[in-house]
Formats: sequence, C-alpha cells, structure tokens
Amino acid sequence: MSESASLIIGEKTYELPIITGTEGEKAIDISKLRDASGYITLDSGYKNTGATKSAITFLDGEEGILKYRGYGIEELAEKSTFLEVAYLLIYGDLPNQSQLNSFQSDISRHTLVHEDMKKFFDGFPSKSHPMGQLSSLICSLSSFYPESLNSKQTPEEQNLTIIKLFAKMTTVVSWIYKKSLGHPIIYPQNNLDYVSNFLNMTFGQRTEVIEIDPVIVKAMNVLFILHADHEQNCSTSTVRMVGSSDCNLYASISAGISALWGPLHGGANQAVIEMLEQIKNDGGDTDKWINKAKDKNDDFRLMGFGHRVYKNFDPRAKIIKKACDEILEKLGINDPVLEIAKKLESAALNDPYFVERKLYPNVDFYSGIIYRALGFPTDMFTVLFALGRLPGWIAQWKEMRENKEPIGRPRQIFTGEVIREYVDLKNR
Ligand code: SDX
Repeated sequence: MSESASLIIGEKTYELPIITGTEGEKAIDISKLRDASGYITLDSGYKNTGATKSAITFLDGEEGILKYRGYGIEELAEKSTFLEVAYLLIYGDLPNQSQLNSFQSDISRHTLVHEDMKKFFDGFPSKSHPMGQLSSLICSLSSFYPESLNSKQTPEEQNLTIIKLFAKMTTVVSWIYKKSLGHPIIYPQNNLDYVSNFLNMTFGQRTEVIEIDPVIVKAMNVLFILHADHEQNCSTSTVRMVGSSDCNLYASISAGISALWGPLHGGANQAVIEMLEQIKNDGGDTDKWINKAKDKNDDFRLMGFGHRVYKNFDPRAKIIKKACDEILEKLGINDPVLEIAKKLESAALNDPYFVERKLYPNVDFYSGIIYRALGFPTDMFTVLFALGRLPGWIAQWKEMRENKEPIGRPRQIFTGEVIREYVDLKNR
C-alpha cells in the first residue's frame, strides 16, 4: 500500500502521495494540490522543495555524503580521472578502456573553436571579468554550431553537441586566461589528455615547449572531479530551468555559468581568497573577523563557510584541505593565507555561533589556495569551478530532456495593490 500524507484544511482532508527515493529520502507529492484544494505551497529559496527526481548525484547533508551515480566522491577523487568521471555523470556508467579512448578521441577532434569566435573575444576589454566572457562565449557557440538549436535532435546529434561543448570549454577558458595576460593563445594538442591539454593551452607559450608537471595534472583532476556535480544547486537548477523551455544546451549552460558567478555560490572561491588577503593585510587577527562574521549589524560573512545542504563537513572540503597541504609541500610553496585559513577554520569550529548553525567549511574554502599555488589568478577561480561543473550541468540537462520534464513555471502569492484607477498624466 503506497504511503500518503493527510493535509487538513478547514473541514477538508487531502491525501497527498509520499514518494521514497532509492536512498530512502521522502517527499510529499503536491503536484495535484492546487487542483484539489486551490492552495499552493510557499518556500522561499526552495529550502524544503524538491524540483525533480534525478539518478545522477546523491548528497546527504547531515552525514556529509556525496556520491556520483552511486560512487563515493572519496574513491573517485583518489582513483579516477576527470574525463572518466565526466563520462560517468553524462552516460551513467564508468567507461571501459575502449569507451574512454573513443570519448577522448571524439573530444580531441572538437577542441578547436571557430576562428571567427576570436572577433567576439577580441571585443572584450582586457580586464573584463572572466565569468562574463565565459558566459557570453559559450552562448555564442550556438551561432557557430546552429545544429545545436534544433530541440528535436536525434540522440547522436545531441551527443555531438555535448562533445563539442565539453571539448571547446577548455579552449575558451584558456583563451580567457591568455587574454588577461596579453599573451597569444595556444592551440589544442590532440596527443594530450583532456586536463594536460587544458594546462598546456593555459600555461604553454608559443616561444617554448613546456613540461606539464604530473603533480599539477593530478591536482587539477582531483579539483575538477570534486566540482563535477552537486545535485540541484543554484546553477544546476538554472540550467534545468532554462533547458526546460526547450532552449539549446549552449544557452542553458551559459545561464548556469551566470548563476555560478554569484559570490554566494561559485564566486565564493574568489571571495575566500580576497577575504583571506584582507585579513592578512589587516594584521591577521582572525578573532576580529570571526566576530565581524557573527555581528548581525556587519554584512561581513565568512566566505567559504556554511552550506544550504551540508550541516556537517562538506566531504569535498576535507579532500581539498588534505590536497592543499600535499600540493603546496610538493611545489615548495609557503602561502601565508593557508595558515590564516586554518586559524579561521579552527576558531569557527569551536565557536558556538558557527556550531549552533552547523556552519562548516565548504568546497570553496580551500580550493582557491590550490588554484593560486598552481599559478591561476584569483578572478579565474570561478571559471575553473565552471569547467569542473560542466559535465554535471550537461548530465542534468540531458536527464531533464530524456525525462521529458515540463517547462519550469513556479506560482506565487501576490502581495501588491488589488485595484487602482488610471489617472491621466496631466492629472498626476
Ligand atoms: C557553493 O548548493 C550547492 O550545492 C552549492 C555548492 C555546489 O557545489 O554547487 O556546494 C557550491 O555554492 C558552496 C557555498 C559557497 N558560498 C559561500 O561560501 C558564501 C558564504 N556562505 C553563505 O552565504 C551561506 O552559508 C550559504 C549561501 C552558502 C547558505 O545560505 P543559507 O542556506 O540560505 O543559510 P542562511 O543564509 O539562512 O544562514 C543561516 C544562518 C544565518 O544566521 P541566523 O539568521 O540564523 O542568525 O547562518 C548564518 C546566517 O547569517 N550564516 C553565516 C554564514 N553562512 C550562514 N554567518 C556567517 N558566515 C557565513 N558564511
């Protein structure tokens, strides 16, 4: 017998079906509520509202668990590569060697970007924010690959659109970095794997062949794996919402990039480093800044701390913190802001304000320290988050399409003027 919830409104009782997920989570299905009762529910920020059913990523905020397609994030970060995890998220299973080889070769064949795109690119001021450039350039892909506009693509056509996007994202991101330096762009090299090719286009020079450090390749694979998906977060929900209008993949992802830009979301990794630098330049008094974060009259927040879902340690933060120590030691880098980050973390974790609100370090708290150690400028950090998140966005957009989900259109409770008489301009 299926479970249900009874909702009593006045004299009437409404039975609402209860849905149980494969991990045991429970939801009350209110899809028929308004037709039956005339009532809607209200949930600002969707803190208690599920938007969809998904088989891609599971996270348990209370226990600090994160799994992609049933595989624990810890095991994937240790044993897998970003390309393999991208395949897992998009197609549902870990690839065998032959599948991985053809995935890599398909991608290698599509890393070149249409040469006319350089005209868009050259139009940006050299110091314009990389996230604004990325969002515009990814949306403009639909102008160069108009077949992507067909919302009735066959699975093969859709897959080619996916491959082109996943391949060209690395080229576009490296172009943005080169532009910020005033350096010439480096073209893709088909003999390199996905991450090494990205690093070569980013840090390579036309004047010399660089050695790609395997320590950096491994670190970037781990960081990209940790950022690859995170169920229905703000940017992923944006990708699904835009895609639900039958909008093409490139424009849907471009919208997700814009959502990720915000400092409360992906932009936090840039905001964390700016905060740590501010604390360092202010003399490193972490207690002073912890008190500012607690003061309701002060709009300062401890960036990189807190999470809508995790009310325990973000499992990604634990892995990144460990990787931070290892990478900085291997590269022989001593970054003073790392010590400030550790002092902040330990102070906050022992402070009742943070403990009562279950505020722990999230994925953004330490990631920027690694990006900086690897040579990336601060305003590129969120672009790197987007590059890591791309396979997750693609997988979620693809699942939404395959499940033929309806266009997203939430309701509202109106609180404005009820009726007003029009007064001619001359009489106002
Ligand atoms: C990401 O959703 C995802 O999965 C996102 C993400 C992903 O992979 O896609 O994990 C990536 O976006 C991580 C989060 C990065 N953002 C930050 O680090 C910015 C700093 N953190 C926050 O602003 C905040 O914690 C949020 C936005 C992350 C979550 O906010 P919520 O869930 O809306 O919680 P809230 O703002 O209602 O805070 C609850 C309480 C409030 O105090 P009270 O009103 O109860 O007194 O906690 C306080 C807040 O003032 N609080 C903080 C705080 N975060 C929350 N106080 C100080 N510093 C903070 N960082």
